[in-house]
Amino acid sequence: MKNICVLVSGGGTNLQAIIDAEKSGEIKGGKVTCVISSKADAYALERARLAGIPTAVIPRKDYYSEKMYSEAILEELQKQNADLVVLAGFMTILDECVTKAFPYKIINVHPALIPSFCGEGFYGLRVHKAALDYGVKVSGATVHFVNEKADAGAIILQGTVNVENGETPESLQKKIMENVEWKLLPKAVSLFCEDRIVIRDGKAYVDP
Ligand code: GAR
Repeated sequence: MKNICVLVSGGGTNLQAIIDAEKSGEIKGGKVTCVISSKADAYALERARLAGIPTAVIPRKDYYSEKMYSEAILEELQKQNADLVVLAGFMTILDECVTKAFPYKIINVHPALIPSFCGEGFYGLRVHKAALDYGVKVSGATVHFVNEKADAGAIILQGTVNVENGETPESLQKKIMENVEWKLLPKAVSLFCEDRIVIRDGKAYVDP
């Protein structure tokens, strides 16, 4: 059984999707053993508690730099014996001390079709606003491995939704979460736990 540590900062609907998938037996070979939040008041913590999952709060605001914060996160992940780290709405960029310690073992969900509308400064509703300002007709979400560059690691899964006339950042966010994120993130976690993701030439492929 792989130990899955989920990192959160907010509402935790993606965490909930993973918890629900685990409960329904969809995730074979893995178990969420810890939820770590960068904010003490994140509702994701309540979701973890309700599911009986141990939690830790490491507030980003208590650390002077990204590096010092990342070192604290790394220490906790090592203490938890994490086999897989899932960034589920985790709004802090991690320093390479974490990404190098967990190569191809950190998964992130990003609410756009990478390489569009991603990288530093693109998070939450800002992503959807940027996509709508550009006038895209299709958007979606990407589940990818995390490396040293923001949103630049190997893509595992992507899914799309159509953008309708009159769409707002809020309506697009909801549509992408419900139709893509909550399905693809648990699926990628499951594939990882079953050792079905293969890396070749820096790209990720799902073993059929
Ligand atoms: C999700 O839409 C996730 O894709 C996004 O934040 C939301 C978190 O929701 N993540 C990012 O923008 C990271 N760059 P949740 O807390 O309800 O899962």
